[in-house]
Amino acid sequence: MKRQQIVAGNWKMNNDLAEGKALAEAVAAQAPVAGVTLVLGTPYIHLSAVADILDGAAGIHLSAQNCHQEESGAYTGEISASMLKSVGAEYVILGHSERREYFGEDEALLAAKVDKALEHGLIPIFCCGEKLDIREAGTHVELVQKQLAGSVFHLSAEDFGKIVIAYEPVWAIGTGRTASPEQAQEMHAAIRKMIADKYGAEVAEATSILYGGSCKPSNAEELFSQPDVDGGLIGGASLKAEDFLAIAGSF
Ligand code: 13P
Repeated sequence: MKRQQIVAGNWKMNNDLAEGKALAEAVAAQAPVAGVTLVLGTPYIHLSAVADILDGAAGIHLSAQNCHQEESGAYTGEISASMLKSVGAEYVILGHSERREYFGEDEALLAAKVDKALEHGLIPIFCCGEKLDIREAGTHVELVQKQLAGSVFHLSAEDFGKIVIAYEPVWAIGTGRTASPEQAQEMHAAIRKMIADKYGAEVAEATSILYGGSCKPSNAEELFSQPDVDGGLIGGASLKAEDFLAIAGSF
């Protein structure tokens, strides 16, 4: 079975509504990209407007960048999975390193968010990856194993089969540094093995594992040519339609 190839943009906290709509329109005008699932990860307040722009178009989907782990209630300022679903989001990015670092999200909390997202039919794009000190200490594979074990390996094989994994070497995010294609492949293959050990080869072979960390039009082809790299989670370069589309055209 050929794995789904995905290029997902993570706009982070960028673009006002007019800018976000213009960006979504520019990307949607070129969709679908043959053989590639495009995902736009917009700020919460853009979701509804971008859903109208995408309007169920083939090959392009809407994602949030986070959700709360509870169903509803007195959580001022938070957004629930069912709310995301109700405005047309299909995916949700969970466990991004910036959420872990700046908002203290730990493995148990992320496990609860993954569960809640799946309960409402959202597809989690679950992020894992190591910081520079861990990479330099050579314990990056163990760290990623711990992140997966703590937040997604409690899922049934059926539910695990619905999620997307994004490996993001934190030392390569927004820094202009990129993991070499060999470093990316090494970790993606290690992640696939972890999945195979837990769920079996069939589930592992079917899981899309995206690379995130300064993926650009200039390096996407080399990264995507690696056998275990199934696409990218794109930060900065997703803010320009032509760069995002050029990355999507790099398989
Ligand atoms: P950059 O592509 O800006 O390095 O960001 C990667 C990332 O964090 C995607 O989620």
